[in-house]
Amino acid sequence: MNKRENFGSRLALVLAMAGSAIGLGNIWRFPYLVGQNGGAAFVIIYIVSCFVLVLPIFMAESIIGRRTRLSTFGAIKKLAPGSPWKWIGLLTVITPLLILGYYSVVGGWSVDYLWKACTLRLTHNTAGLFPGFISSVWEPLIAFTIFLVATAVIILLGVKNGIEKFTKICMPALFVLIVGIVIYGLTLPGSMEGVIYLVKPDFSKIDAGVVAAAMGQAFFSMSLGMGAILTYASYAPENENILSSGVGTTLADLGFALLAGFAIMPAVFSAGIQPGEGPGLVFDTLPYIFSQMPSWIGAILGIVFFLTILMAALTSSISMLEVGVAYLQEEKGIGRVKGTIIITLIAWVLGIFCSLSFGPLAGVKIFGLSIFDCIDKLCSDWLLPLGGLLFTLFVGWYMSKADVRDEFTNHGTANVGVFSVIYFLMRYIAPVGIVVVFITNLVL
Ligand code: PHE
Repeated sequence: MNKRENFGSRLALVLAMAGSAIGLGNIWRFPYLVGQNGGAAFVIIYIVSCFVLVLPIFMAESIIGRRTRLSTFGAIKKLAPGSPWKWIGLLTVITPLLILGYYSVVGGWSVDYLWKACTLRLTHNTAGLFPGFISSVWEPLIAFTIFLVATAVIILLGVKNGIEKFTKICMPALFVLIVGIVIYGLTLPGSMEGVIYLVKPDFSKIDAGVVAAAMGQAFFSMSLGMGAILTYASYAPENENILSSGVGTTLADLGFALLAGFAIMPAVFSAGIQPGEGPGLVFDTLPYIFSQMPSWIGAILGIVFFLTILMAALTSSISMLEVGVAYLQEEKGIGRVKGTIIITLIAWVLGIFCSLSFGPLAGVKIFGLSIFDCIDKLCSDWLLPLGGLLFTLFVGWYMSKADVRDEFTNHGTANVGVFSVIYFLMRYIAPVGIVVVFITNLVL
């Protein structure tokens, strides 16, 4: 049996979890969803979802991972031997692969845009640049491949030398970079309108669709429902307080999403652009804004901005790859190198189809959606919430309350007072919340 690696410290664990959570979901998805769903009203529902729905599921995954010290499939098998619950394990082998494929395509866009920024191609007319880029064949494919290989290299280095070291460097850097962008954005003329848009709620904009979108985004952004948090928790140091790492990760993720909103909306309003632009907001709109600035400022800001996105995306993609690699290592006895190559290759093939679905394969529609949109929707609206539902039902209803309490409270030494609140949220509120999201998505 291989000796299992663990994170070296509590800080390393929280940084790795925050690294997984903070990613394209925060910088690319959150701002455009805010823009499409009515600004501050969406933000408020999002914040509530983070604590009522997402935190209990985060706890459920942490409890399973730390209790068993195994990756998802083995963990469920160990806690529920011979029961059909093992199928959760299968789900969490498939979902990360699908996500890794399409997520790496967007990761590739950030590689390409960083390169464009470095070669000063974002400092002059950028009209039509983004649509032209994503619909071409080779450039996005090459960038996507570079992103995926970079992810694989970090995973090959291992939990301590790869994941831990990389996130320890990137996370503080990310924070500094985004704060710098926020400060600069606020100095732009007309930027206050963007701030007001983010803080002044218009409750007339809220309907069931907005609530479902906010909950789904909270799920995706916190990396829940596919075993990433479970796997990281299985590497947690013995004395780790699960509640504080969960709250710490939730606050970091939420804080970063808000910072990304404050980095982007003021600039969008200052340039007189509509915030409801959609997925192109970051890749289409921001380069336009950079190109309108004095060229040296636009160049520096472009480099800083796309470097931020790239680092955030990598600290998330490694957590997706790790789930599959840990599974192959522990369940199939396949070594880390071989396992990494296998999973990377499958994600690569999937990603090729996703990338080409903006160009030559644009005509291929599944349920009326392009391949990319279909996988995005399938994962974030269905598979991740389904995984989360099963995890929370497993801990809330299948595991014995005594075991859950024992793990959550570090054998009765911590968090004893809040246990009943979290347990109630895990047993009732989180499952009901997810079912409501499902029904809303079905009806809308
Ligand atoms: N949370 C990541 C982000 O916000 C995406 C992610 C989803 C990572 C699911 C792992 C698992 O970008």
